[in-house]
Amino acid sequence: MRRVVFNQKGGVGKTTIVCNLAAISASRGRKTLVVDLDAQCNASQYLLSSGEAQAEAGTADFFENTLRKGRQSNDLQPFITPTPFENLSVMAAHPDLEELRVKLEAKHKIYKLRQALETLEGYDAIYFDTPPALNFYSQSALIAASHCLIPFDCDDFARQALYNLFDTIAEIKDDHNPELSVDGIVVNQFQTQAKLPARLIAELKEEGHPLLDTAITSSIKVRESHEASVPLVYFAPSHKVSKQYAELYDVLGRKRGGKRR
Ligand SMILES: Nc1ncnc2c1ncn2[C@@H]1O[C@H](COP(=O)(O)OP(=O)(O)OP(=O)(O)O)[C@@H](O)[C@H]1O
Ligand SMILES: [Mg+2]
Repeated sequence: MRRVVFNQKGGVGKTTIVCNLAAISASRGRKTLVVDLDAQCNASQYLLSSGEAQAEAGTADFFENTLRKGRQSNDLQPFITPTPFENLSVMAAHPDLEELRVKLEAKHKIYKLRQALETLEGYDAIYFDTPPALNFYSQSALIAASHCLIPFDCDDFARQALYNLFDTIAEIKDDHNPELSVDGIVVNQFQTQAKLPARLIAELKEEGHPLLDTAITSSIKVRESHEASVPLVYFAPSHKVSKQYAELYDVLGRKRGGKRR
């Protein structure tokens, strides 16, 4: 299972969702890898606490290798760093990803991540954290993934972004990755008291968008968990928002189980 969490809009919860679903997967005994493709490095910082040695190599080194002349090895192991959490590893990001992007786009390296992951053994689940843009890195992830989860933060700009997003996914499916399946839209930072979020959600449902029933509410615990570099399943296991994440994980698992791929 290879899941990308993508929305080209910034700040909708991609990194938080990737890291927390991956941490739940790992806590349940599945060997799990997070591939951080965002030059902001937020997922890497969340999962590799500042006290840990920083990753020696990661996604930027992998992509840099693909630009070298001659046959490159597809071995991803040198770019993977274990996190302090059992069964959870990360292919860390680096700010250099930004500079590398133009070269990678010019050299048509869009299938390299998928090809390398196809030869990676020993992982039960892979999660991709993407930058807030439809660029080389998010496209590489959409091509490498089997599933795509879309976070939505109940804002009208985010609703506009959703329409473009479904067109993008359809195009990637058609041109590059027919097995890509949309998990659905997960509402993040839901505010139960406010009227606008409920109205936007109702409208999206009416328009036939695939909204998941589990929403993640807005909670300070999320920010505290970031600050501590400890995912919610370990930071506050009995908190409401941690339970919502566990429910989201189960819902996604059941959807996969019930569907032939
Ligand atoms: N459920 C939540 N409750 C409260 N704050 C949240 C919640 N989910 C995310 N946040 C906060 O919202 C901000 C954006 O979240 P996050 O970094 O996960 O989004 P992103 O989509 O990855 O952003 P970017 O597009 O910049 O990569 C962060 O400060 C995070 O702590
Ligand atoms: Mg992010």
